[in-house]
Amino acid sequence: MCDWKAALVLVLAAGCSEAGEQLPSADELTPDALDSSAIQPIPQTVDLDARRVALGDQLFHERRLSADDTLSCSSCHDLHTGGVDGLRSSIGIRGQVGPINAPTVFNSGLHFRQFWDGRALTLEDQVNGPTHAPGEMGSSWEQILGKLGADPDYVASFAAIYPDGITAANVRDAIATFERSLITPDSAFDRYLRGEASALSEDARRGYRMFTEYGCASCHQGVGMGGNMFQRFGVMGDYFADRGNVTDTDMGRFNVTHRDEDRHVFRVPSLRNIARTAPYFHDGSAPDLARAVRTMAHYQLGRELDDGEVVALVAFLESLTGRYRGAPL
Ligand code: HEC
Ligand code: HEC
Repeated sequence: MCDWKAALVLVLAAGCSEAGEQLPSADELTPDALDSSAIQPIPQTVDLDARRVALGDQLFHERRLSADDTLSCSSCHDLHTGGVDGLRSSIGIRGQVGPINAPTVFNSGLHFRQFWDGRALTLEDQVNGPTHAPGEMGSSWEQILGKLGADPDYVASFAAIYPDGITAANVRDAIATFERSLITPDSAFDRYLRGEASALSEDARRGYRMFTEYGCASCHQGVGMGGNMFQRFGVMGDYFADRGNVTDTDMGRFNVTHRDEDRHVFRVPSLRNIARTAPYFHDGSAPDLARAVRTMAHYQLGRELDDGEVVALVAFLESLTGRYRGAPL
């Protein structure tokens, strides 16, 4: 058997034959990652051009980015509901039900790749996805630039920031800059990390200890508590065989690389604001945190949790809700 601690030790030395490719490489995972220093607080501010943030904010809420002017980015990533739509899988133009759950846009600037399978390298690249996907906004750059170019307000705002005015690259730049502003500092847990011992309840502190000792933090780590590595969903058991009805989407990173070892491998998602972004997993199959935590412990760590452990881990995850522009998410 290749339990996670043994696997990590092996990976740090040589590699684990059973789960080797999916565990963090020695470069990605220092021994520090095994203790509390695996996680750092979200910075309180981020230095961005305020004019591009404001234009990106406007574009993020712009329905003319979709073919029939019905959907904006915020239709599926509502900033008032945790940056998600609360659905198992998103609904695109003309009521089309999509194949996958919408992750939050909050803190997306902290991720090393975008999308569940990491197929976009940057937030700028990511914008091409939803705007063009026939099942999402179903548009094209030609249409989008035509509509924005016919609006004198947009012509003026782009011209004030970008010498070449309204272009696809500038639309991507403004939206990505706005997304980088969507950080959520000052969660109870971050205040605890900064030395405010009373910021966490007794349960949440126990949950934090389990989160690091049981090995959750070996994958969900860094400032984003996720978003910085790829891992298999089902290290210690076959999640997909147990769930049934395996779809193309379930292939994860394999769809990008076509390498066998990337089947069911996903970017480890961020756990920041996780209490606000149900349902969970790329398939939206876990309706609440208790279910998600039990599933993770079972399939990623080979551990069955008792009710007290679930309560503590959920209390810890609930302490990860931060603030956006000073207000709780
Ligand atoms: C129809 C609903 C819908 C619309 C409209 C939409 N998104 Fe998304 N968004 C999704 C879904 C679903 C995913 C996950 C897709 C995947 O990983 O394959 C996603 C993923 C993302 C991600 C990656 C987050 C992460 O953690 O990897 C970002 C960033 C994002 N969207 C921003 C945007 C922006 C910007 C727009 C507007 C240009 C937009 N979205 C429009 C549903 C939507
Ligand atoms: C081996 C790496 C690994 C370990 C260990 C791990 N996770 Fe995960 N976690 C993942 C991956 C990969 C996903 C994405 C699964 C999917 O939906 O495809 C995930 C998803 C989640 C989600 C759902 C996130 C969302 O946005 O839907 C939660 C909550 C979570 N993990 C909590 C935990 C907890 C708590 C532990 C410890 C008990 C843990 N994880 C251990 C890799 C890991």
